[in-house]
Amino acid sequence: MTRVLYPGSFDPVHNGHVEVIETAARLFDEVVVAILGNPDKAGGMFEFPERVAMMAETCAPHANVVVVHRDRLLVEVAHEFAVDMVLKGLRGAADFDIELQMAGMNRAVGGTTTLFLPASAPLAFISSRFIREIAGAGGDVSMLVPPAVNRRLVAKAGQNARSAP
Ligand code: PNS
Repeated sequence: MTRVLYPGSFDPVHNGHVEVIETAARLFDEVVVAILGNPDKAGGMFEFPERVAMMAETCAPHANVVVVHRDRLLVEVAHEFAVDMVLKGLRGAADFDIELQMAGMNRAVGGTTTLFLPASAPLAFISSRFIREIAGAGGDVSMLVPPAVNRRLVAKAGQNARSAP
Protein backbone atom coordinates (compact mmCIF):
# COMPACT_ATOMS: atom_id res chain seq x y z
CA MET A 1 0.00 0.00 0.00
CA THR A 2 1.35 3.44 -0.91
CA ARG A 3 0.56 6.52 1.15
CA VAL A 4 1.52 10.02 0.03
CA LEU A 5 1.54 13.36 1.85
CA TYR A 6 0.36 16.46 0.00
CA PRO A 7 1.27 19.46 2.18
CA GLY A 8 0.54 23.14 1.69
CA SER A 9 -0.82 26.28 3.28
CA PHE A 10 -3.96 26.15 1.08
CA ASP A 11 -5.15 29.69 1.85
CA PRO A 12 -7.39 28.92 0.06
CA VAL A 13 -7.34 25.66 -1.92
CA HIS A 14 -7.76 26.34 -5.66
CA ASN A 15 -8.32 24.29 -8.81
CA GLY A 16 -4.57 23.77 -9.33
CA HIS A 17 -4.39 22.08 -5.92
CA VAL A 18 -7.50 20.04 -6.76
CA GLU A 19 -5.80 18.72 -9.90
CA VAL A 20 -2.88 17.46 -7.78
CA ILE A 21 -5.25 15.84 -5.27
CA GLU A 22 -7.30 14.12 -7.99
CA THR A 23 -4.14 12.78 -9.63
CA ALA A 24 -2.75 11.60 -6.28
CA ALA A 25 -6.03 9.87 -5.41
CA ARG A 26 -5.71 7.88 -8.66
CA LEU A 27 -2.00 7.06 -8.29
CA PHE A 28 -1.76 6.24 -4.58
CA ASP A 29 -3.76 4.06 -2.20
CA GLU A 30 -4.00 6.82 0.43
CA VAL A 31 -3.50 10.57 0.24
CA VAL A 32 -2.95 12.69 3.36
CA VAL A 33 -3.62 16.36 2.58
CA ALA A 34 -1.87 18.30 5.35
CA ILE A 35 -2.63 21.96 5.94
CA LEU A 36 0.53 23.39 7.50
CA GLY A 37 1.79 26.79 8.53
CA ASN A 38 4.10 28.67 6.18
CA PRO A 39 6.14 31.21 8.19
CA ASP A 40 6.56 33.30 5.00
CA LYS A 41 2.78 33.61 4.68
CA ALA A 42 1.73 34.56 8.22
CA GLY A 43 -1.56 36.44 8.67
CA GLY A 44 -3.42 34.86 5.77
CA MET A 45 -7.05 35.24 4.74
CA PHE A 46 -8.61 32.10 6.26
CA GLU A 47 -8.08 30.64 9.73
CA PHE A 48 -6.95 27.01 9.80
CA PRO A 49 -10.38 25.56 10.75
CA GLU A 50 -11.89 27.29 7.69
CA ARG A 51 -9.11 25.98 5.45
CA VAL A 52 -9.74 22.47 6.77
CA ALA A 53 -13.51 22.79 6.22
CA MET A 54 -13.05 24.00 2.62
CA MET A 55 -10.50 21.28 1.87
CA ALA A 56 -12.58 18.52 3.50
CA GLU A 57 -15.67 19.50 1.46
CA THR A 58 -13.56 19.63 -1.72
CA CYS A 59 -11.98 16.22 -1.08
CA ALA A 60 -15.22 14.53 0.04
CA PRO A 61 -15.72 12.67 -3.30
CA HIS A 62 -12.41 10.85 -2.77
CA ALA A 63 -12.70 8.04 -0.21
CA ASN A 64 -8.91 7.57 -0.04
CA VAL A 65 -8.10 11.21 0.84
CA VAL A 66 -7.89 12.48 4.43
CA VAL A 67 -7.45 16.11 5.41
CA VAL A 68 -5.52 17.18 8.51
CA HIS A 69 -4.10 20.35 10.02
CA ARG A 70 -0.84 20.21 11.93
CA ASP A 71 1.25 22.88 13.61
CA ARG A 72 4.57 21.12 13.14
CA LEU A 73 7.32 20.43 10.64
CA LEU A 74 6.49 18.71 7.37
CA VAL A 75 8.97 15.92 8.14
CA GLU A 76 7.27 15.27 11.49
CA VAL A 77 3.89 14.97 9.75
CA ALA A 78 5.45 12.65 7.16
CA HIS A 79 6.66 10.40 9.99
CA GLU A 80 3.37 10.65 11.93
CA PHE A 81 1.47 9.23 8.95
CA ALA A 82 4.31 6.91 7.84
CA VAL A 83 4.00 8.18 4.26
CA ASP A 84 6.10 6.73 1.47
CA MET A 85 6.70 10.13 -0.08
CA VAL A 86 5.72 13.78 -0.22
CA LEU A 87 3.96 15.19 -3.29
CA LYS A 88 4.31 18.80 -4.47
CA GLY A 89 2.78 20.54 -7.48
CA LEU A 90 4.97 22.64 -9.79
CA ARG A 91 3.60 25.54 -11.81
CA GLY A 92 6.87 26.79 -13.25
CA ALA A 93 10.51 27.68 -12.67
CA ALA A 94 9.86 29.84 -9.62
CA ASP A 95 8.08 26.96 -7.87
CA PHE A 96 10.83 24.57 -8.92
CA ASP A 97 13.60 26.66 -7.34
CA ILE A 98 11.98 26.84 -3.90
CA GLU A 99 10.47 23.36 -3.99
CA LEU A 100 13.78 21.73 -4.93
CA GLN A 101 15.41 23.46 -1.98
CA MET A 102 12.62 22.41 0.42
CA ALA A 103 12.79 18.83 -0.89
CA GLY A 104 16.53 18.77 -0.22
CA MET A 105 16.11 20.21 3.29
CA ASN A 106 13.35 17.73 4.12
CA ARG A 107 15.42 14.82 2.80
CA ALA A 108 18.42 15.96 4.85
CA VAL A 109 16.57 16.48 8.16
CA GLY A 110 13.83 13.85 7.86
CA GLY A 111 14.80 11.41 5.13
CA THR A 112 11.64 12.20 3.13
CA THR A 113 11.44 11.70 -0.63
CA THR A 114 9.59 14.39 -2.59
CA LEU A 115 7.85 13.77 -5.89
CA PHE A 116 6.96 16.69 -8.20
CA LEU A 117 3.83 16.85 -10.34
CA PRO A 118 3.72 19.53 -13.04
CA ALA A 119 0.48 21.50 -13.32
CA SER A 120 -1.48 21.20 -16.54
CA ALA A 121 -1.10 24.34 -18.67
CA PRO A 122 -4.66 25.70 -18.16
CA LEU A 123 -4.16 25.70 -14.36
CA ALA A 124 -0.50 26.68 -14.09
CA PHE A 125 -1.22 30.39 -13.56
CA ILE A 126 -3.50 30.03 -10.53
CA SER A 127 -2.16 31.24 -7.20
CA SER A 128 -3.80 31.51 -3.78
CA ARG A 129 -2.20 34.92 -3.35
CA PHE A 130 -3.97 36.38 -6.39
CA ILE A 131 -7.20 34.55 -5.53
CA ARG A 132 -7.13 36.42 -2.20
CA GLU A 133 -6.29 39.71 -3.88
CA ILE A 134 -8.96 39.55 -6.60
CA ALA A 135 -11.71 38.11 -4.40
CA GLY A 136 -10.83 40.49 -1.57
CA ALA A 137 -11.48 43.41 -3.94
CA GLY A 138 -14.85 41.93 -4.95
CA GLY A 139 -13.72 40.18 -8.17
CA ASP A 140 -15.18 36.90 -9.41
CA VAL A 141 -12.82 33.90 -9.12
CA SER A 142 -15.50 31.21 -9.22
CA MET A 143 -13.86 29.62 -12.29
CA LEU A 144 -10.60 29.10 -10.36
CA VAL A 145 -11.69 27.65 -7.02
CA PRO A 146 -13.93 24.84 -5.74
CA PRO A 147 -17.53 25.81 -4.76
CA ALA A 148 -16.71 25.44 -1.03
CA VAL A 149 -14.09 28.18 -1.41
CA ASN A 150 -16.09 30.46 -3.68
CA ARG A 151 -19.01 30.55 -1.21
CA ARG A 152 -16.72 31.72 1.58
CA LEU A 153 -14.91 34.26 -0.61
CA VAL A 154 -18.22 35.79 -1.68
CA ALA A 155 -19.38 35.91 1.95
CA LYS A 156 -16.12 37.59 3.02
CA ALA A 157 -16.35 40.15 0.20
CA GLY A 158 -19.93 40.93 1.29
CA GLN A 159 -18.82 41.45 4.90
CA ASN A 160 -15.99 43.75 3.75
CA ALA A 161 -18.37 45.79 1.58
CA ARG A 162 -20.81 46.18 4.47
CA SER A 163 -18.09 47.26 6.90
CA ALA A 164 -16.48 49.74 4.43
CA PRO A 165 -16.89 53.40 5.48
O1 PNS B 1 1.40 26.03 -0.09
P1 PNS B 1 2.76 26.49 0.40
O2 PNS B 1 2.63 27.77 1.22
O3 PNS B 1 3.77 26.64 -0.71
O4 PNS B 1 3.29 25.32 1.36
C1 PNS B 1 4.52 25.46 2.05
C2 PNS B 1 4.55 24.49 3.24
C3 PNS B 1 3.38 24.75 4.17
C4 PNS B 1 4.48 23.06 2.72
C5 PNS B 1 5.91 24.73 3.97
O5 PNS B 1 5.98 26.06 4.44
C6 PNS B 1 6.10 23.77 5.15
O6 PNS B 1 6.58 22.68 4.93
N1 PNS B 1 5.69 24.21 6.37
C7 PNS B 1 5.82 23.39 7.58
C8 PNS B 1 7.07 23.81 8.35
C9 PNS B 1 8.31 23.14 7.77
O7 PNS B 1 8.44 21.93 7.76
N2 PNS B 1 9.25 23.96 7.25
C10 PNS B 1 10.46 23.49 6.64
C11 PNS B 1 10.38 23.55 5.13
S1 PNS B 1 11.88 23.01 4.36
